Amino acid sequence: MRSESDPQRRHVNRETMPFKHKNTRRIEGLDSNVWVEFTKVAADPSIVNLGQGLPDISPPSYVKEELAKAAAADRLNQYTRGFGHPLLVKALSQVYERVCGRKIDPLTDILVTVGGYGSLFSTVQALIEEGDEVLIIEPFFDCYEPMVKMAGAKPVFIPLRNKNDGNSASSADWVLDPTELANKFNSKTKAIILNTPHNPIGKVFTREELQMIADLCIKHDTLCISDEVYEWLVYKGNKHIKIATLPGMWERTITIGSAGKTYSVTGWKLGWSIGPQHLIKHLQVVQQNTLYTCPTPLQEALAQAFWIDYKRMDDPDCYFYSLSRELEGKRDRMAQLLREVGLKPVIPDGGYFMIVDVSTLNVDLSDVEENQPYDYKFVKWMITSKKLSAIPLSAFCGPETKVQFEKYIRFCFIKKDSTLDAAEVILKNWNKQIA
Ligand SMILES: Cc1ncc(COP(=O)(O)O)c(C=O)c1O
Repeated sequence: MRSESDPQRRHVNRETMPFKHKNTRRIEGLDSNVWVEFTKVAADPSIVNLGQGLPDISPPSYVKEELAKAAAADRLNQYTRGFGHPLLVKALSQVYERVCGRKIDPLTDILVTVGGYGSLFSTVQALIEEGDEVLIIEPFFDCYEPMVKMAGAKPVFIPLRNKNDGNSASSADWVLDPTELANKFNSKTKAIILNTPHNPIGKVFTREELQMIADLCIKHDTLCISDEVYEWLVYKGNKHIKIATLPGMWERTITIGSAGKTYSVTGWKLGWSIGPQHLIKHLQVVQQNTLYTCPTPLQEALAQAFWIDYKRMDDPDCYFYSLSRELEGKRDRMAQLLREVGLKPVIPDGGYFMIVDVSTLNVDLSDVEENQPYDYKFVKWMITSKKLSAIPLSAFCGPETKVQFEKYIRFCFIKKDSTLDAAEVILKNWNKQIA
């Protein structure tokens, strides 16, 4: 018989002992993630990736040069102010004072964090209490739901509905039903998460639509978390309006922005929350006790880039406007390509995504694994059979609305011409097979 001190016996015991450490309740059921799943399947370089919102166009050269300059300065390779590098919060305050037409204090009204994601996270952690209800407009950027759940709150969904009964040609066809929205508000409603320009539909909420939301927020004393990461990406005939600028909304709104989306540098992962001091100070508490600070050279470079564009905000060459002009051409090309296969894309008024109903193609998906929504199966089939990737729309919906959106998939069009050329070849060949 082996003694207790026998190392071989200890080894045997440890192996048979059940491992007691499981996941926390906070993250129970949150393990599946569309980006993890579809980034993996689209990793093959032979696949034309129009899935994830990842620009393959070059960021502006001055943005890259500013980063090289920042990295060359020793002091900019060390920690900076935790709530935002001084030069960056100053630049952000100047840009947004101009946009919002009000004073924005760089030290108290802004928090710089890790991307739009970081801004959403610190906002939800700081302001949403266990048991609160948070309204989420469907379809939604997928992390809203798990973030709300991790805070112990309840997501309450309200869908955008197609006012043309399935025959949508434009993102503006997707609207909130005023009565349905009003009925979702109650005494437990702590916040509504708004996203304009909208991912994935590309809807740019109009002043009237924002006013309807604002009126309800004020009536029910509700906060508004306004995700505006695509704020500069609006196409001809549309205007991005910040809900924080409507009367009575500044005090109750956190507005979220992203360097990744503003300068086509998604890998920089810098974002910011802007709002009144009485709210931002709570987000700062989350940041000081979690991340503490964001990378200094990136913040310095972003600040310098913002100064360049701030000075030319009256000039059409300002990157804030020139990018959307460039993208408008790509949007129209993408729409044309999809039409050539017999599809009817929903033309976005903003952002860089386009959704399309693929059920009309009647593709035989019997070989694709079962138990998944139609759009998941379709995208998996398209990746394998056509070497083209997209993102299934039901990933952006709560459990009850998935069926309503599972006919749609989302394409990203912030892609260089050669990528769109490759997509064109695939779609044209596809068209020949259908014809
Ligand atoms: C609507 C929306 N919000 C937030 C984010 C996250 O932004 P970031 O990459 O800056 O974290 C994204 C990214 O795709 C997005 O589409």
